[in-house]
Amino acid sequence: MPHLKVTPFDTSSIDLTLAKSDILTFRATSLNTDDEIVGVVYGGEEFLLQIKPTPNDTLIKYDKVTRPLKVNLLKGALDIVSKEWGLEVLSSNIAISNTKAALSLEHFKKIEDFEEMRYPKEKISVEVGFGSGKHLLYQAEQNPDTLFIGLEIHTPSAQQVLKQIELQGLENIWVVNYDARLFLEMLPSNVCEQIFVHFPVPWDKKPHRRVISPSFLEESMRVLREGGRLELRTDSDNYYWYALETFFGPAVPKTHVEIRKNEALEVTSKYEARWLRQEKDIYDVYVKCQENSKERKLHIDFNFNAVKYTKGLENRLSKKPMVFDGYFVHFERLYKSGSDTLLVKCAFGSFDRPEHKYILISNKSCRYFVLPPVKTAVNYEAHQKLMELLSNEGTANV
Ligand SMILES: C[S@@+](CC[C@H](N)C(=O)[O-])C[C@H]1O[C@@H](n2cnc3c(N)ncnc32)[C@H](O)[C@@H]1O
Repeated sequence: MPHLKVTPFDTSSIDLTLAKSDILTFRATSLNTDDEIVGVVYGGEEFLLQIKPTPNDTLIKYDKVTRPLKVNLLKGALDIVSKEWGLEVLSSNIAISNTKAALSLEHFKKIEDFEEMRYPKEKISVEVGFGSGKHLLYQAEQNPDTLFIGLEIHTPSAQQVLKQIELQGLENIWVVNYDARLFLEMLPSNVCEQIFVHFPVPWDKKPHRRVISPSFLEESMRVLREGGRLELRTDSDNYYWYALETFFGPAVPKTHVEIRKNEALEVTSKYEARWLRQEKDIYDVYVKCQENSKERKLHIDFNFNAVKYTKGLENRLSKKPMVFDGYFVHFERLYKSGSDTLLVKCAFGSFDRPEHKYILISNKSCRYFVLPPVKTAVNYEAHQKLMELLSNEGTANV
């Protein structure tokens, strides 16, 4: 990912360049560590860059939460700041690549596009964590009457598959660079034929990042039409047993579960090929949806209304994760910009499908930076708690 290593410099001098900068909007200093953050508007996108001092140099790099899909935007922004700040660059990897610039975004959808989405096909299938995209591309080619929505959190994989879609001239794939666990709530009820979850990771090390969970199962059954299937394929004994426990748990009372061992599919991903070479067992667990679900109607407003920065807010916010009934809120990092603006990096929402966002609070207004969370019921509950905690009354008791 693009970054710059530069000779250490006095970051307070950035403030002097802000007024005449083409792309910078603010500088904020961490209250917990010695890193800083700058707000950028470039190429029609808003994002953050991080400035981290290291013993011998200073690193300027992208911010994970607000990273734009087009890598060239990050490279361009890094190039502009290095010039505007007159930095001595020690090393960098920001040469603009033409192939990446040419990437068409026709098949790329943002999560917020799904708030008012018109689907071009009647049949929809979803693939969670498509990785190299071999299975997704194969399915789309074989089933031209179905729209395939591929979800992948790893941005370079999403970019690679977008290129492949163009090269192969496929019309029926959308790629979404977003957490699949949150995405499902954006879909209407009873619209999906299949949900593929092939070789999800991780299982052992980071349980909070598991795709399969009781709430994922519940959402999958809501979006699948009657007769549609959630299809898990895994090489992990642990994941297999954990999934069975989840699928037979109380979240969905009526399911039809089918199990297969070492079944060959028409297409083998690179990841699967590795396990096959090692003669590992592969398990398939299919969960068939037994009935249609009710349509879900959510009235969600992610505005912060009257919330504004008031003196000392940073001291009133708890730094520890706060657990409430069915969700949590964690103010992970605080950044201060001038005397009356606070940038809060926070995690919140459900335990198995958390959101990571920044909130920008000035003495005039408050908003999510860059975009509001996904419109899920649990995010809305967490949002209301955030409003309460960020307002004077809420923080008074923390
Ligand atoms: C082991 S790879 C398997 C890739 C592919 N399905 C295959 O069979 O080769 C798991 C993929 O899932 C992605 N992933 C993990 N959690 C995800 C989530 N919550 N939403 C979307 N993608 C996710 C990872 O980035 C990774 O590319």
